[in-house]
Amino acid sequence: MNVKKDFPIFEAHPELIYLDSGATSLKPQPVIDAIVEYYSTYSANIHRGLYKISEKASAEYEETRSVVARFINAPSPDEVIFTHGTTESINLVASTLGPERVTEGDEIVTTVMEHHANFVPWQQLAFNTGADFKVIDINDHFELSVVEKSDRRGEGHQLVIDLKRVITNKTKILAITLVSNTLGTINPVKEIIAEAKKINPRIITVVDAAQAAPHNVIDVQDLECDFLAFSGHKMLGPTGVGVLWGRKQLLDSMPPYQFGGDMINEVSLEKTTYAKTPHKFEAGTPHIAGVIGLKAAITYLQQIGLDKIRNHEKELTMYAGRWLNDELSDAITFYGPRHIEFMAGIITFTMKGIHPHDIAQILDEQHIAVRAGHHCAMPLHTQLDIPASTRASFYLYNSEEDVEKLVEGLKKVKKTFS
Ligand code: ALA
Repeated sequence: MNVKKDFPIFEAHPELIYLDSGATSLKPQPVIDAIVEYYSTYSANIHRGLYKISEKASAEYEETRSVVARFINAPSPDEVIFTHGTTESINLVASTLGPERVTEGDEIVTTVMEHHANFVPWQQLAFNTGADFKVIDINDHFELSVVEKSDRRGEGHQLVIDLKRVITNKTKILAITLVSNTLGTINPVKEIIAEAKKINPRIITVVDAAQAAPHNVIDVQDLECDFLAFSGHKMLGPTGVGVLWGRKQLLDSMPPYQFGGDMINEVSLEKTTYAKTPHKFEAGTPHIAGVIGLKAAITYLQQIGLDKIRNHEKELTMYAGRWLNDELSDAITFYGPRHIEFMAGIITFTMKGIHPHDIAQILDEQHIAVRAGHHCAMPLHTQLDIPASTRASFYLYNSEEDVEKLVEGLKKVKKTFS
């Protein structure tokens, strides 16, 4: 994939091997241009000014809502809410819908592989309401353990989802990630939601798509989820902008998240009435440049094609797996599924006797950027019985050469500590 030329950071740092797109992606020139164009030619507030540059800013902002709706196949742009990122999107649902729906004795279900953003808000909601907080575990293949497979590796594999063990008619919320930011596991979320709704048709499902939306086609109607959240900065867009998609009926029934300008209909001394969804959830001046940059990012991704990006990442991940196994199998332990169909472009590992921070530092000396630590997934690391791990994550600008440099870098790490 010949896209490196579109990312100016490689001109500033020609030697950079960037393998930390799981944390944040690099930005292509069209995204940077869109942001610069807004600030330099029509930098005005939205929904307020009755003058041309404000009208243009408002039109671009609202056009992005439609672009996002099409990107995730949402029935209506009115179901798209702009937030600061996945974390805020999930907090919005937990703190508005949560207290209205969840009471003592109810259950909230999530999984042990969640990023803290899709774990802590639900844990706190459970603490505050007296609900039971239930966590789905993983099996030896680093996949959710309620998903029993006869053989996912064989032909005609069959999924048997035995969610009855955790989901009951008391379960109010199921919060689940499409892709684990640490294991790279791609969860069968569509099947899990279908099964969960069979057990309890009133269950509300919240999907964390932060690690999925940059790499895979997302279709909220196909998933049949109730809410879905993702961030702009992991998909070539700016930091500080994210999306919450929710079913209109649910959004309409929820109270506002924050109060202030732009989210009201009428304010008097006696009372305030609110604007309609989605504006009811967007109090104050939003990250206008960020939203406009997100539009450019989605346009760029769509021009290349998400299927092509996913295939590129699959090839790189398989290439990395082969090389690392050939060259370093005695030194490395991997944490992630083995079958490529269930793996995102993420390789997480530990090296015997070497702290992940030391690995990352020695790789950095060779201009290779990876993430080391608990990756905001402490319950998962506790479950894996490791304090930290090292993660290499791939995106469209990575190449086989990057993988080869990573392998060489890790061989140097091994030698340093031998
Ligand atoms: N959520 C980001 C990661 O997984 C920061 O690294």
